[in-house]
Amino acid sequence: MKRTTAPRLLSFLAIPVLALALAACQRDEKSAATAGAPPPADVSAEMALIPLPAKLEPRQGQFTIDASTPVHAEGEAAQRVAKRFVKLVSTTGKIDLKLAADGAAGGIRFVLDPAFKSASPEAYVLDTATDGITVRASDERGLFYGAVTLWQLAAPGGEAAIRVPALHIEDAPRFGWRGLMLDSARHFQSVEEIKRLLDAMALHKLNTFHWHLTDDQGWRIEIKRYPKLTEVGGCRIPAGDGGKDPATEKPKPYCGYYTQDQIRDVVKYAAERHITIVPEIDVPGHAQAAIAAYPELGVLGDKPPVLNEWGVNTYLFNTEESTFQFLENVFAEVIGLFPGPYVHVGGDEAVKDQWKASARVQARMRELGIKDEMAMQSHLIQRLEKFLVAHDRRLIGWDEILEGGLPPEATVMSWRGIEGGIEAAEQGHDVVMSPSSELYFDYLQTHSPNEPPGRPAAIPLKQVYAFEPVPQQLDAAHRQHILGLQANVWTEHMRSFARMQHAIFPRIAALAETGWSPQARKDYDGFLARLPAQLQRYQALGINYAATPFEVAFSVQEDRQAGKATVTLDNPTGYQDIRYTTDGNDPTAASPRYESPLALTLPAELRAAVFADGKPLAAAGVQHLTAASLLSRTDEELQMCSSGLMLRLEDDGPADGERAIFNVDIFNPCWLWSGADLTDIASIKVRAGRMPYYFQLHKDEANRKFRAPKSAHGELEIHAGCDGELLASVPLPAEPDSSGFVDLKADLPADLTGRRDLCITFTGDTRPTMWVLDRVTLQPR
Ligand code: ACM
Repeated sequence: MKRTTAPRLLSFLAIPVLALALAACQRDEKSAATAGAPPPADVSAEMALIPLPAKLEPRQGQFTIDASTPVHAEGEAAQRVAKRFVKLVSTTGKIDLKLAADGAAGGIRFVLDPAFKSASPEAYVLDTATDGITVRASDERGLFYGAVTLWQLAAPGGEAAIRVPALHIEDAPRFGWRGLMLDSARHFQSVEEIKRLLDAMALHKLNTFHWHLTDDQGWRIEIKRYPKLTEVGGCRIPAGDGGKDPATEKPKPYCGYYTQDQIRDVVKYAAERHITIVPEIDVPGHAQAAIAAYPELGVLGDKPPVLNEWGVNTYLFNTEESTFQFLENVFAEVIGLFPGPYVHVGGDEAVKDQWKASARVQARMRELGIKDEMAMQSHLIQRLEKFLVAHDRRLIGWDEILEGGLPPEATVMSWRGIEGGIEAAEQGHDVVMSPSSELYFDYLQTHSPNEPPGRPAAIPLKQVYAFEPVPQQLDAAHRQHILGLQANVWTEHMRSFARMQHAIFPRIAALAETGWSPQARKDYDGFLARLPAQLQRYQALGINYAATPFEVAFSVQEDRQAGKATVTLDNPTGYQDIRYTTDGNDPTAASPRYESPLALTLPAELRAAVFADGKPLAAAGVQHLTAASLLSRTDEELQMCSSGLMLRLEDDGPADGERAIFNVDIFNPCWLWSGADLTDIASIKVRAGRMPYYFQLHKDEANRKFRAPKSAHGELEIHAGCDGELLASVPLPAEPDSSGFVDLKADLPADLTGRRDLCITFTGDTRPTMWVLDRVTLQPR
């Protein structure tokens, strides 16, 4: 065997694989390192640390943690950290560690050392050696992050003894703002759920929780001076059946708010995990719940309901001095509850129609010498900044606060891309990057039919990981204004904590790495190699992370005439090891590896799963391919006829429990089956459901399309091509049947043959409801 070229090739092509293989070797030969075998070149994959530390050096040997290992900590702060570490290790593993009485030798030592030199209070050094482990920092925050890293080295750790390899870590975060925003207005989370989220944030070394507490659909923070904000503004009647008691048919409100005592409790809980909370009170838009409670705050003087629709809404706070004082009074109570430096004033999506149309607002603008509505918004934000600064707080707002001019000290949260952030930084303002294109965790992460409701403009894990918060075009002087990054979790489509967790995990791991690790250390393949260990930690912590990124995506090309199908397999996250079977058993690591599209003769049962380190990352997916299955498609398997706004929406009933989910483009509800084989097909059966149309599209409303109806309740129409010939038209009933669905049969012209693009739509503007497609089935002659 020629030895000269192979190692070069290996080092060129296969470093991660080689590192993994070496790491695996080390794991198998338990005492090899202690016996003097050289450590692998880079053990970070084995350590599976997320976020990756700034610097990690492997050392000789290992240390074994078991129940007899003493944990030392001197002083209250270090003991707090030590206790949290002990609790974490017992939660995710089998070992109950004890804080040691002074004097016990060896063990784990948490040391707060004022002489420890670092630019960041979040920095720490971790040394694991054969005779003990030391975590050292100058500040409790750094010590805590060192404890989290050590816990990761030991977790999930289901065994009675855990071996931690000897190493030296020097670590500090890249950014000071590592944030997550949660919308508690659209759907409400319990204090317990918020605490579980804060726990998980801390384990990802995130330090900022932005809490979106007010919106059109609910006011969620108790304000003592204005009790109706929560009494009235804290409840809405959901649209459709979701807002009715099924037994009595009476309105069933959706309510929730946090008392001031609960907020103080959450703030304290967060602080114990080194998380600062940034409360958001959204002005001047997203104000309908407040105006429902106190109509005198509004422009129109009417009393709107707390909104039960999603989208962009026109209700704004008015511009009276009394309303500005109301807002200052609210912010005064908010400041009393949240000790952190930043208060978020919203500023987003405040369309100015009501201000433009109001003679009173226009008169007020003249009175104040304000030239236009943007400047009016800017005037309000500047006034709030003065108030906040006078109370030793800093104002932060969404990037719309740039319009009309920023107040002198404002920080900008850039969400409509990064451009607002660039503009603000160039003006010398601090910036947090949270672009909707990469860091909106309410967008779904894959196209799997197992995704919950959400926005299917998918933001996969890789896209989150790839986001770089410091734009190239910023010069060095302005780069320092980028405080960091934040992911946002809007909860229109997240009725449950499980769904919220699905949206957040595992993408929070990618966010954490960008926020913490040096840019040069980032490497997506390395991240994927470390992720399976993180999933095991999630399991041990009881976190309902999304399995969809770890599923196999199937794409089926059918040949009905030949009784065959060609199936392409893929993993949306980028894992390469896909194993499959056709014998009805779930695949194992020894099953055939997927290399290229599979040609299958019908009937066939194809099962496939993604593997890492010889273990499946999620349950195997199954495709039952039969002559009948090739004749049928669900909404998820169809495309949309145009690219409007596709949403994955949940049916409105029952109020609690399981509901059907539909993919629908709310601008053009029309589903496309490209190249459907219509040879020998007599008719098409469509199963349709009906759900509320609960959207405010504002200026986009004009782009909403529907075809004119020909009968009382409109028709199901099937076209050959979306602008093509009408193949069939069937009148719709007034109502679906008691199941909430209706089955419609459309006869096709007798001479139809070959393949066509079938576009299936419903005519008429049927608001406040809309028909949605559930399944379409071709029926042979
Ligand atoms: C936002 O997404 N409206 C900030």
